[in-house]
Amino acid sequence: MVNRRQWLAGSAGAALAAQSGAARSIVIASSNGLRPCAKAMEILRSGGDTLDAVIAGVNIQEEDPDDDSVGYGGLPNEEGVVELDACVMHGPTRRAGSVASLRNIKYPSKVAKTIMEQTDHVMMAGDNALRFAKAFGYKEENLLTEKSRLAWLVWKASLRDARGHSNWSDGLDAPGKPTAWLQRLFPEASPELLAYAWDRAMHPVTGTINCLALNVKGEMSGVTTTSGLSWKIPGRVGDSPIIGAGLYVDQDVGAAGSTGRGEENIRVAGAHTIVENMRHGMAPKDAVLDCLKRVSRNYNRDKSRLTKFDINFYALRKDGVYAGGSLWNGQTRQGKLSPRRFAVNDGGQSRLEDCIYLYERR
Ligand code: GLY
Repeated sequence: MVNRRQWLAGSAGAALAAQSGAARSIVIASSNGLRPCAKAMEILRSGGDTLDAVIAGVNIQEEDPDDDSVGYGGLPNEEGVVELDACVMHGPTRRAGSVASLRNIKYPSKVAKTIMEQTDHVMMAGDNALRFAKAFGYKEENLLTEKSRLAWLVWKASLRDARGHSNWSDGLDAPGKPTAWLQRLFPEASPELLAYAWDRAMHPVTGTINCLALNVKGEMSGVTTTSGLSWKIPGRVGDSPIIGAGLYVDQDVGAAGSTGRGEENIRVAGAHTIVENMRHGMAPKDAVLDCLKRVSRNYNRDKSRLTKFDINFYALRKDGVYAGGSLWNGQTRQGKLSPRRFAVNDGGQSRLEDCIYLYERR
């Protein structure tokens, strides 16, 4: 459950924002959103539109080869092809756009906006979405980096049949760590790169970025963009392009978004649930916790199953009160727990704040 320190920390940030109402602009995002929040704030300050602001923000992650959960450098599907999902919602016009399973285009968030602006559809997918994007001048390019290609190859090499056999090794070594057999397979790769690739092979990512903005006029918009679950079956679509799951904005109430395991979010229509909770009077942190409880309920609150994944929600109310919340207090990697955080910019430098959470990993 939420501990006292976390609760107070969340409440303090929220209370501060509440005092100011919507008298100042606020941008929040998932933990990879420090630079995106700063960029979005810069655009809000110069009078730019809230949707243009959040899209320009997340474009930074979409083109960053080191963010392996979004855009260029995102980890690919099981066939080594990067498949992207994204959606946008524009509060002032109440419009939405979404794209799923898009290949070879670095900025799916922009494509989602083009769909919103240039058609009367909301969602496009796959090859036809690619054709649509190309018709509107988007450049086709290979989104695999050398790093993500190696991670994909290491993932393939890690696969074993029921007898523990892998087509990539003679079976005489006993893999379990990126030791000699992996270095033999990929002699050019550094031990650090192989350690990273092995970690990703063992723990597929559902990273994603969600970014929500409120300006001084009370206008709100949001965006969610992702390369989705790494090593997914081609065609798998997560929550990120699903309006109401990966993102929902109603600027009369607020906005919400999500990162993490999309399958769980789709089953609780998380972003819409959170906005509706706020509409019915819940504070953002309570709205987020309620949504996390719905995720937990879908597993009869069985922590031994819930521990296998994580999911995060972000909520920004129209008066500037905000919250970030996770199913678990953090993520354990190599025996170390890193706490879950989310990014906030309310006019100064972007900062990370602690997420509230439902359960504690020990
Ligand atoms: N939340 C990203 C995904 O599951 O695809």
